[in-house]
Amino acid sequence: MHEATRRTADHLNPALVGLLGTLGFGRVFVSAEGDRLVDAEGRSYLDLLAGFGAVPLGHNPPRLVEGLRTAATEGLPHLVHTGPPVRAASLAEALASRVPQLPVAMLSLSGSEAVESALKLARAATGRPGLLACELGFHGLGWGALSVLGVRRFREPLEPLLPGARFVPFGDADAVERALRDRDVAAFVVEPIQAEGGVRIPPPGYLARVAELCRRAGTLLVVDEVQTGLGRCGAFSVALADGVVPDVLVLGKALGGGLLPVSAALTTRALHERAFSGERFDLHGSTYGTYALGASVALEVLAAVDELGLAQRSTALGERLVLALRERLAGHPFVREVRGRGLLVGIELGATGARLVDRLAPGLVDTVAERAFGQWVAAELLEAGILVQPASQRWNVVRLEPPLTVDEGALLAAVDTIGEVLDRYRDLRTLLAALTARLGAQWWNGGEFR
Ligand SMILES: Cc1ncc(COP(=O)(O)O)c(C=O)c1O
Repeated sequence: MHEATRRTADHLNPALVGLLGTLGFGRVFVSAEGDRLVDAEGRSYLDLLAGFGAVPLGHNPPRLVEGLRTAATEGLPHLVHTGPPVRAASLAEALASRVPQLPVAMLSLSGSEAVESALKLARAATGRPGLLACELGFHGLGWGALSVLGVRRFREPLEPLLPGARFVPFGDADAVERALRDRDVAAFVVEPIQAEGGVRIPPPGYLARVAELCRRAGTLLVVDEVQTGLGRCGAFSVALADGVVPDVLVLGKALGGGLLPVSAALTTRALHERAFSGERFDLHGSTYGTYALGASVALEVLAAVDELGLAQRSTALGERLVLALRERLAGHPFVREVRGRGLLVGIELGATGARLVDRLAPGLVDTVAERAFGQWVAAELLEAGILVQPASQRWNVVRLEPPLTVDEGALLAAVDTIGEVLDRYRDLRTLLAALTARLGAQWWNGGEFR
């Protein structure tokens, strides 16, 4: 057993090590460069996960590493709380130059914290108690973010959470209209595309309609682009690209370039003043929220995304990827749909009605797909040198989310490998036999991590 595995099991997260072993993810990655990861045994992998979207420029991109080295050694005051934070102020201005409609940034470290900023702003600015969010929405695991996270399994063991949070189905604007009727909702929190919820794309016009409903109800529209933003889906912001200006735009993950945590909730001057002016100036903030190193890296990320045209590249490459996948996987009895926007792509597995067992027992096929098939495909792809993961709240959706700088040839070659892996499982019996053999072997060797 690798020392890092033992240490993780002993001191970090025992359950995770057990689960990873069971799922066949028992590899220890020890080095990384660009779109490649290398494990302790020297095997190389194409990274199509990119730290759940947090590694936009690839691993250890020289530009960021160099920028960080400079920032760390140029003698900046990294944390001073009695004057303007010089580098963080530049970051806030750089963000405002990209979203002039939302010129004030509340900076923090994690996506979850940026969602907290948005929730606190909404409550403080509206004086309303209610919060509305979408089923299967994912916004992070801090108490506030968790309160609007649309997966009961995450919330229930920790309740009571923030009171007043309610949920509507994603993509259903009529449900939003009904939920806002009492005019007691401070914010509607929504992702433009549900990434962890299964790369789900709402019907056209959904965001524009809910924006209008929120405006009429006096509810703030909080668009969480922690995963979809910063070029991932072909634009700085999906909402803005679709002509919707939210009251709060939440960014995270990629903003720190995969090196340092940086997140932001962008809003209007008027709302920020309403929530936090005068004596309320210190109702929100955190010691490290405006740290200079994070701001330096984020500034470099923003510049690189622009200079390298990564949003446009993401659109072009994403379209090619989706087309190639659709072509390669056409007619597969368990591939329901390939969908995506930019370089956030999902392959949905499940019953398609193409085989007799589907028609006789569609529930069985879907249960296997939801519980195991996506993870199984991911495990087989890992053996083939490709790192992917299903969407965390929809295991039947294999999510492809490479660095935005991914090598085009390698990405398109991965389509063939994905096709080959899926071709091994064109009927339920073969899939169940493989899963049983794997779980049996795992049990036999005492759950060893491999
Ligand atoms: C849309 C979205 N919002 C918020 C978060 C939470 O971000 P963090 O893990 O940095 O708290 C995530 C994380 O996956 C996310 O996908």
